[in-house]
Amino acid sequence: MSLKNKTIKWLLKNAALSLKGKTILITGANSGVGYKTAETCIFLGANVIMACRNKEKAKEAMDRLIHEYPQANISIAELDIANFSSIESFVQKIKDDKTDIDVFVNNAGVFHQPNRTTKDGFEYVIGVNYLGTYYLTEKILPYLLKLSHNVVYINTISLIHKFAKKIDYNDFYYNKKYRNLAVYTRSKLCLAKYTYAIAKKHENSNVKIYMNHPGIAITPLGLNAFGKKVARLSMVFKNLFNSPEKSALSVAYILSHDFPAGSIVGPNKLFGGWGYPKINHIRKKVKTGVEELINFTQQQIISRNIINDKLDKN
Ligand SMILES: NC(=O)c1ccc[n+]([C@@H]2O[C@H](COP(=O)([O-])OP(=O)(O)OC[C@H]3O[C@@H](n4cnc5c(N)ncnc54)[C@H](OP(=O)(O)O)[C@@H]3O)[C@@H](O)[C@H]2O)c1
Repeated sequence: MSLKNKTIKWLLKNAALSLKGKTILITGANSGVGYKTAETCIFLGANVIMACRNKEKAKEAMDRLIHEYPQANISIAELDIANFSSIESFVQKIKDDKTDIDVFVNNAGVFHQPNRTTKDGFEYVIGVNYLGTYYLTEKILPYLLKLSHNVVYINTISLIHKFAKKIDYNDFYYNKKYRNLAVYTRSKLCLAKYTYAIAKKHENSNVKIYMNHPGIAITPLGLNAFGKKVARLSMVFKNLFNSPEKSALSVAYILSHDFPAGSIVGPNKLFGGWGYPKINHIRKKVKTGVEELINFTQQQIISRNIINDKLDKN
């Protein structure tokens, strides 16, 4: 077992729960916070489905987990959130296999992908973090809503969604002047707005919807973005950042509490950048302007002639 003693102590004190017999699906579970979320859930007894875009990376991560937890029940599902048809195949397979899911964690995300577009032609960061996650949620929710037991659905946003500028629908993707951080914060603000709206819409159903964020954690997400020098420097000062292991505790924390639907959970110190999970304040910008965003989003997807009338009404 590679979880630190202090993580286990924290879990026993603050999120004492057994996930034995429960199935947790985590997107992007081969790396960073997603990997540690998988490990925490396995430690608590869960069966884990790692939904990943790269089979080799997923297999390598699964082997590491099995090495640590030989009794673990882990499987891999293929999912590329930058590709609507991959999302459709992924959801179809879940339906065909009648996969039982108790917890669905939409952890996968990207940062700093200039000059890159998704398979369907959208700017990559907004395309994955928001449009792909939106599309995946719209596709999987009707299935989860029909399950005969409770489900927890978690979308991973970012602490810095709160620094996002007001959404300019005339330059949604920052085409005029691409700014990495602005694109990222917009993607996560959009995801937060959408998640908050569907959480409220479904709050009396069997699916409880939440958001989590990791604070500022050292993972490939940031390390790959800033180049080798910054990566080396941040490894020297790594104790100033949250560990992916600590960031991953937000899922167990949500599962062991009965927070109101739409709650955001993230680290408790340094303005949310560091520490153990706690419930966060939800900003007005998350709760407002959702209708306009959803209308715009649907138009964006439909305008590419990709899915037309395929957006199911939940
Ligand atoms: N680290 C932080 O400080 C921080 C701060 C705020 C929010 N977050 C959010 O936390 C989440 C986890 O990030 P992390 O820091 O753990 O980063 P990470 O180690 O880079 O993990 C991201 C995961 O998402 C997967 N992914 C990326 N694009 C995908 C796609 N198109 N389809 C399917 N999977 C895809 C990656 O797969 P590959 O390995 O194949 O690339 C990887 O497994 C992300 O949503 C991120 O935005 C992180």
